[in-house]
Amino acid sequence: MLYGVKLVELASEVPTKTVSNFDLEKILDTNDQWITDRTGIKERRICEKEDSLYLAVESSRKALKNNDPKEIDLIIVATSTPEYLYPSTACRLQGEIGADNAVCFDLSAACTGFIFALVNACQFLQLGTFKKALIVGIDIHSRFINWADRSTSILFGDGAGAILLEACPLEENQFLSHSLACYGKAWTDLTIKTTYSNFPNADIQKNVEVVQMNGKKIYQFAVQKVPEFILSSLNKANIKLEEVDYFICHQANQRILDSVADKLKVDKNKFPSNMAKYGNTSAASIPLIWEEKKNLINQKNNIISLSGFGAGLTIGSIVWKIN
Ligand code: ACO
Repeated sequence: MLYGVKLVELASEVPTKTVSNFDLEKILDTNDQWITDRTGIKERRICEKEDSLYLAVESSRKALKNNDPKEIDLIIVATSTPEYLYPSTACRLQGEIGADNAVCFDLSAACTGFIFALVNACQFLQLGTFKKALIVGIDIHSRFINWADRSTSILFGDGAGAILLEACPLEENQFLSHSLACYGKAWTDLTIKTTYSNFPNADIQKNVEVVQMNGKKIYQFAVQKVPEFILSSLNKANIKLEEVDYFICHQANQRILDSVADKLKVDKNKFPSNMAKYGNTSAASIPLIWEEKKNLINQKNNIISLSGFGAGLTIGSIVWKIN
């Protein structure tokens, strides 16, 4: 490692339309009480006119408010719900914001996407390959949901979060350690299949593919693996659990956050939550809550544990120190 990595700016963007549990009661056999008790979610933002590119551009412009886009060397967009299979959302974003000198690519790791992208970018910066990196987590699950399926449609919301990172002297380094893993044998537990055409048929299949989820398996996976990966990443950084000031976890279900806190015997107040307002925004959820609570979380010398989990199945934790 030649350089350290430091956080320069955090930003986010969500669509304007709010859909509450009461709105869902009108179209589904569900109710606010059930959704609140089982998930902690009260409402979510849903794209109408907005798309991935709009959310990417708006969150990135805010993240770059004090920086010239031409100084960005690397853009990684973590997303599993792009409008285009190619070009990447990252290249489309580059074109829109004029980050002409950046290398750009998308990264697909579902709700763990932001964590995988952050590790990836930090390693480029640590090696000295690049100096400034922009990472954006975006997902628009509302386009890939069967709105008649109450077991999935109540969970997701749309949004984007962006972070600007910069290489710095080693003694100012904030990225302390990470633990990542994938469990491809369980890939069928959470899927969105792409549509395709078959030779020699002229028509592309019309039906939109949607989220298929084994909710219980994902729930058990998260509750078992998130504590394990928090501990293994802390161990690599030689930091004790009680030294962590905040645990920023993927916002999927309040009961998952509470179980992780219970398992670790950590005060639940150390697990910030905003899923009541946004639902599960997938790759956007970690930067979204980090940005929303930045005045609380980003205090000098605070130790932060970041964790994501999701389709793949994928899991990852990072230890970060604010300085
Ligand atoms: N409203 C009312 N009743 C419902 C609803 C609903 N929206 N959904 C399910 N039910 C009913 C079920 O039919 C069932 O009824 P039954 O007992 O008569 O059969 C009952 O409620 C209990 O259903 P369960 O599925 O057992 O409910 P559970 O407590 O497991 O909660 C949930 C389901 C919320 C989906 C939970 O399993 C969960 O959060 N799992 C994790 C999902 C997740 O985080 N996915 C995203 C991962 S990130 C990514 O990569 C995209």
